[in-house]
Amino acid sequence: MKKAIACLVVILFQLLSALSASADIKLPSPQTEGGMGLFESLKKRASSPGGDFPTGALSDEELSNVLWAATGLNRGDKGWTVPMDKGEPPYVDVYAANDKGVFMYDWSSHSLVEISKNDIRANIGLQKFVEKAPCSLIFVADAEALSVFTNETLRAQFADVAAGAMTQNVYLVSSALGLGARYIHSVKDEELKSALNLPDENRVICLMMLGK
Ligand SMILES: Cc1cc2nc3c(=O)[nH]c(=O)nc-3n(C[C@H](O)[C@H](O)[C@H](O)COP(=O)(O)O)c2cc1C
Repeated sequence: MKKAIACLVVILFQLLSALSASADIKLPSPQTEGGMGLFESLKKRASSPGGDFPTGALSDEELSNVLWAATGLNRGDKGWTVPMDKGEPPYVDVYAANDKGVFMYDWSSHSLVEISKNDIRANIGLQKFVEKAPCSLIFVADAEALSVFTNETLRAQFADVAAGAMTQNVYLVSSALGLGARYIHSVKDEELKSALNLPDENRVICLMMLGK
């Protein structure tokens, strides 16, 4: 009897550990060859209408390509798909929110680090349709990474320039992959800061809806 109870306790413990374990995701390698040409992708770039946004979920491969385009390493261990002042590591962080939770993109390992298992999509945009996107990427100015720059104006400008480059890359890779995308400025700041566990000094810049 004692043995059976001990066994049960072990099983329960393992079950609880499995349930609470973080679910970081190693993304598949991004596509770096072939596909639609840049000029065709530029010709097709457009925002998908918010009210009629495509609701199909992205595959891991598609998400991998989009995140890599947003801020992936493209030249060894230093050098990214977007330009950063003085070649500093990216000072805008990219988060992904989908039905599985909230994740931060770690460009150094090309993986998603779980922040929470909460589906926050219904409470991040000021426009109702934002909740329809199967995945939204959230772009955040990282105060600690930006502290290498000398003053507040530079820090804000450099973060906004980086987010502009990142989101344009997301538009272009989305058009090349046939995904829907839309830049959204009207976000729920406080809700996002809390859902992403952001330090007070970090600033949410925008989000991008993604679907197919
Ligand atoms: C800085 C910026 C802010 C935007 N903010 C929003 C927004 O809050 N909500 C929205 O529905 N679309 C937003 N958009 C998407 C624009 O409305 C869209 O890009 C514009 O209608 C032009 O369409 P196109 O991207 O297909 O050329 C924003 C775009 C930019 C560049």
